[in-house]
Amino acid sequence: MMWNSFGFYADLYDTNPITGNDQGERLLVGRAAELRKVKTRISNRSSVTSIEGNNGVGKTSVVLVAAHQLDRETSQSGKDSLLCLPKLFQIASDEDATEFKRKVYASVATLFIDREKELLRRMDLQFALGPLRAWLENPVFRQGGASMASFGGNLGSQPNSASGFDLQGFFNIIDRLLDAAFSDKGAVICVLDNLEILNTSATARDKLEALRDDVFAAKGIRWVVCGARGIVRSVATSPRLQGRIIEPLEIEPLDDDCIADLISARVEEYRAGPQSIPPVGVRSFEYIYSILNSNLRDALKYAGDFSLWLEDEGNYVPNGDELHGLFEAWVADLSDRYESALNVPPRAWQLFDDFCGRGGSISPSAFEEFGFNSSQSMRGAVSRLENGDLVVSEIDETDNRRKTINVTAKGWLIHHRRAGYVDRGG
Ligand SMILES: Nc1ncnc2c1ncn2[C@@H]1O[C@H](COP(=O)(O)OP(=O)(O)O)[C@@H](O)[C@H]1O
Ligand SMILES: [Mg+2]
Repeated sequence: MMWNSFGFYADLYDTNPITGNDQGERLLVGRAAELRKVKTRISNRSSVTSIEGNNGVGKTSVVLVAAHQLDRETSQSGKDSLLCLPKLFQIASDEDATEFKRKVYASVATLFIDREKELLRRMDLQFALGPLRAWLENPVFRQGGASMASFGGNLGSQPNSASGFDLQGFFNIIDRLLDAAFSDKGAVICVLDNLEILNTSATARDKLEALRDDVFAAKGIRWVVCGARGIVRSVATSPRLQGRIIEPLEIEPLDDDCIADLISARVEEYRAGPQSIPPVGVRSFEYIYSILNSNLRDALKYAGDFSLWLEDEGNYVPNGDELHGLFEAWVADLSDRYESALNVPPRAWQLFDDFCGRGGSISPSAFEEFGFNSSQSMRGAVSRLENGDLVVSEIDETDNRRKTINVTAKGWLIHHRRAGYVDRGG
């Protein structure tokens, strides 16, 4: 395996969120304040905690580690326990509230079954989990979705005795379980992640409103909702949800000063020997993190791509300085290749440079600041940039207008190249 040949047990630059366990706690750096805030919200309020922040900034990781810490810190608290559910929920625009509830309740059942002995003791819980096992093992139930509708569709009205499984019956068991397990303070922490996949605020609002009085209000479940691009903020101000969602907590990019800790935590965790040298060390990671406008997931992705390249070409050397030289050259080469494949007219390039100069996220209504006399006239140049994947526009389906225009990772690499490979990190 490639990581072995570099002297490590596992992928140092995995782009998945940090998991809610002891290892995750060691890998998460620079988030003491955020952890404290997330934990305060979850443990003191029964309303939905909400988190807003750019894609790849580290929202999910913070929430999962916070949940894990709460789980541990309440391990002696009996029915006041807060349990970390090691699973993330998403809701698609074509998914109904019942199907969503099925997924959530099935995961809650799995959590109790997986930790049966510990939890029965911890919460002094007299509850037979056997029937839940039968539910979870039923293939039709596990599959959910369309096949579920055929027998679980008319919820409550007609228990499907032929199959022996009706969905409402399952929901009732879980509600009883949660009721028996927790006081008003205790709960399973559930995360509804990536709300932005719903695309429009209107869809997101509809979905969450549908959950409001049901799974969001369920006793023994405490929710955290994460999303990017302002969608959580917009949902939180909906009159029908306002009372149930706590003002969003904004997660900002990890400070540059934390990168050294980030790399050393990973090296420490995964190294096979005392001298292992990571393919992308602190200096290189700071370099790419700064080029990519502090997007952690993008920086990890390119660090992983570079590692692959080292392996493919047999270029790995256990020497940090040499590796950094190779990394700079690789980044330069990659940006060159990106740029030479593009066909962007000068006016669009100028606009792109202006976007980058303004931090990479702009509103189309700001056309005047970019020297255009209408948003329509700026549109053409923006389209050229979109075609080259230098920027992406978020479109509001309800009125088809572009809400924000954001520079992509590829865009930032090209910007760096156009700026003459200046190391902005200093
Ligand atoms: N505080 C942190 N310390 C170390 N790595 C982090 C930290 N926060 C996030 N990461 C890493 O960055 C990537 C993006 O984090 P993630 O939580 O998935 O972001 P988001 O949910 O905001 O899109 C993941 O690979 C994760 O492992
Ligand atoms: Mg996430």
